Amino acid sequence: MTGMTRREMLAAGTALAVNGLAGKAAAQTAPATGLNALAAAKGMRFGSCFAWAPAGADRGSFANPAYAALLERDCGVLVPENEFKWQALRPDATTFNFDRFSDMLDYAEAKGMAMRGHTLFWHKTERMPRWLNDYDFGADPPKSARTVLGQHIRTAGKYFGDHIYSFDVVNETVSEQGALRESALSRAFGGTEAMLDFAFHTARTAAPKSQLVYNDYMSWEPGNDAFRTGVLRMLEGFKKRGVPCDALGLQSHIGIRSNDSVKSLVAGQERAWRGFLDEVTGMGYQLLITEFDVNDRGLPADIEKRDRAVADYAKAYLDICFSYTQLKDVLAWGMCDKYSWLQGFSPRGDKQPMRPVLYDAGFKPKPLYAAFENAFKAAPGR
Ligand code: XIL
Repeated sequence: MTGMTRREMLAAGTALAVNGLAGKAAAQTAPATGLNALAAAKGMRFGSCFAWAPAGADRGSFANPAYAALLERDCGVLVPENEFKWQALRPDATTFNFDRFSDMLDYAEAKGMAMRGHTLFWHKTERMPRWLNDYDFGADPPKSARTVLGQHIRTAGKYFGDHIYSFDVVNETVSEQGALRESALSRAFGGTEAMLDFAFHTARTAAPKSQLVYNDYMSWEPGNDAFRTGVLRMLEGFKKRGVPCDALGLQSHIGIRSNDSVKSLVAGQERAWRGFLDEVTGMGYQLLITEFDVNDRGLPADIEKRDRAVADYAKAYLDICFSYTQLKDVLAWGMCDKYSWLQGFSPRGDKQPMRPVLYDAGFKPKPLYAAFENAFKAAPGR
């Protein structure tokens, strides 16, 4: 691809097989163009998720020239949509395969874009590999639980700690009811709290230069009170116990779920959201927007009206978030409607394609793109 990839197999003599290691980083900075230039003027960065795909595939990938053009126009930071998750990296307990992720890292570094790591651990049973849910933790479960999670975090840190400036160490461990989720792994640890503490401490040691993030989808929409409270309690606990978590990742899968006007929706949601962000930043945490998109299921089919409402709703949300100078990085969950995960995850009742991100299926910027431009222009510097 770029001629920079240095594939190497880890030397024998280790318990783990690690394939597909990346080449050396090209010390570059992304050219300031598009949204990332507007962000940079405020000390911020803009970016997106992207995927691995074979050359020329019609996917949201660097290997699709039309999609790569969007990344290169607007992004200073990238994150793999799926290729850094356990399912992609670790087919079993003792094998790691970084081939696809390495291709993505090579691309990002060749283009001077920073890379996020999503995610070292997604603590939701249905998102964990089957082999892990079925794992035999043997006679000393806490010990083997630490080995299996520790090897994952240490391996990622060892080979990519210098290349990934920010890791989602844990993703989605708080339930919508505000409790800490459990799994076979957390039970083997003797509890979720012990597992979370171990994950962050291990990540700090394995990747001492990287920002360590807790990432979740608690949102500003009604019905999220208990969820937000659960996240706050967990973050408070981290502070009390000296757990090295630097930032809260606001996934920001926002969405309009009622026929109310955008103005009245925002008016009803702003206070609770600011209260939440005040508490998080008051504890000393940094913020990031990690997976922005707007679910438009609740809006009428008319494209002009739909795009307008999505853009206005997003602009109000971004203005509130950007008023916190602890927030520097803003990543969309994809650049082009055509490849958005929401097309499959949350289709519209009327079967019309969703329009959740910045460019339409024809790769043309939408009003949502202008909302981002305006939000960056209006943001206070940091
Ligand atoms: C989603 C991907 O976009 C899909 O392709 C995949 O099938 C499931 O995961 N929260 C997260 C992301 O943290 O990892 C999810 O990504 C979207 C919700």
